[in-house]
Amino acid sequence: MSKTIIVTGGAGFIGSNFLFHMLKKYPDYRMICLDKLTYAGNLSTLKTIMDHPNFRFVKADICDREAVFVLFEEEHPDIVVNFAAESHVDRSIENPGVFLETNIMGTQVMMDACRKYGIERYHQVSTDEVYGDLPLDRPDLFFTEETPIHTSSPYSASKASADLLVLAYHRTFGLPVTISRCSNNYGPYHFPEKLIPLMIANALADKPLPVYGTGENVRDWLYVEDHCKAIDLIIHNGRVGEVYNIGGHNEMANIDIVKIICKELGKPESLITYVGDRKGHDLRYAIDPTKIHNELGWLPETMFKDGIKKTIQWYLDNKEWWQEIISGEYQNYYEKMYANR
Ligand code: NAD
Ligand code: DAU
Repeated sequence: MSKTIIVTGGAGFIGSNFLFHMLKKYPDYRMICLDKLTYAGNLSTLKTIMDHPNFRFVKADICDREAVFVLFEEEHPDIVVNFAAESHVDRSIENPGVFLETNIMGTQVMMDACRKYGIERYHQVSTDEVYGDLPLDRPDLFFTEETPIHTSSPYSASKASADLLVLAYHRTFGLPVTISRCSNNYGPYHFPEKLIPLMIANALADKPLPVYGTGENVRDWLYVEDHCKAIDLIIHNGRVGEVYNIGGHNEMANIDIVKIICKELGKPESLITYVGDRKGHDLRYAIDPTKIHNELGWLPETMFKDGIKKTIQWYLDNKEWWQEIISGEYQNYYEKMYANR
């Protein structure tokens, strides 16, 4: 049966990959991207689907109640998937305010629209960072859906606040919600301020590769398509009111990722430069994905050794996409964050 789905933040990294996945898999679905086009949103990312008959792009802020309500009036969506967020931890340490605005208040506006116009499902795209971190010397510990919320950065605090609000709208107003909490994604269209694309871009330019602290911090990497497939399963078959963790048991220390990138690109490890640590830097993230596997049959399909090769090749084949980004305002950002680190 045909559905109309509003995808917020669809001009960003994961949202765009989700749109590509959905338009391909469900030819009769109408997909609407609602995006403010902040520094992290790029229309060039969506160029291959802009003229798709089942796709509509709307430039708007999820905090703009009037614009959001007008869109709901026009489209009467069956499902909303809320990806829109300020997503970079380092920026949240510099300037927390916009994180609270978009990530919390924007979530409220989207859910208020769902309440007013009715919705089959509101899905909140959250993060494993809401659980805080795990120690490096306890590889037996993992985040489950029951792990207490315990945030470290303004970013994770804003995402956790939004999650609590989503669950409150379910309990108080009966809004049919689901939440997914995923680990670190990588793949095509990843904005070059994040670890993997930043290291690829710097290595290709023979620039220093800035590793925070000791480089021993661990992240649990998942290929972006696998995340998109998990969300697809949750919005169709997930139980209302439930939280689902998403992750593929692929833990890697940052320094090992950077070394793999050097090796794949034939660049010397002497480019690696240890720089000042991130404030409040989370040590280790590790997801236990048992629930989504048992209930919905989800399993990651792309192994890291293949996904990282595909990703590096994508950055080699799509230089104009990221070079355009890093040639603009990004230069000021990079200077500010890394010059005297
Ligand atoms: P991103 O920064 O690449 O993209 C965010 C998108 O949201 C951009 O297109 C931006 O223009 C848009 N946006 C920002 N503020 C907006 C606003 N006020 N109104 C409308 N649009 C707005 O982010 P991403 O990495 O694709 O992450 C998407 C979602 O997934 C976020 O909610 C993030 O918390 C979550 N998440 C990300 C990861 C990861 O590894 N990147 C992992 C788990 C969860
Ligand atoms: O776990 C999910 C989260 O993953 C998402 O919720 C966030 O939106 C997403 O940005 C990501 O957060 P991280 O902080 O883990 O990702 P980032 O790419 O910024 O950093 C990954 C690790 O690499 C982290 O330990 C910090 C380190 N790092 C990062 C940068 C940008 C460096 O050592 N050097 C760098 O220059």
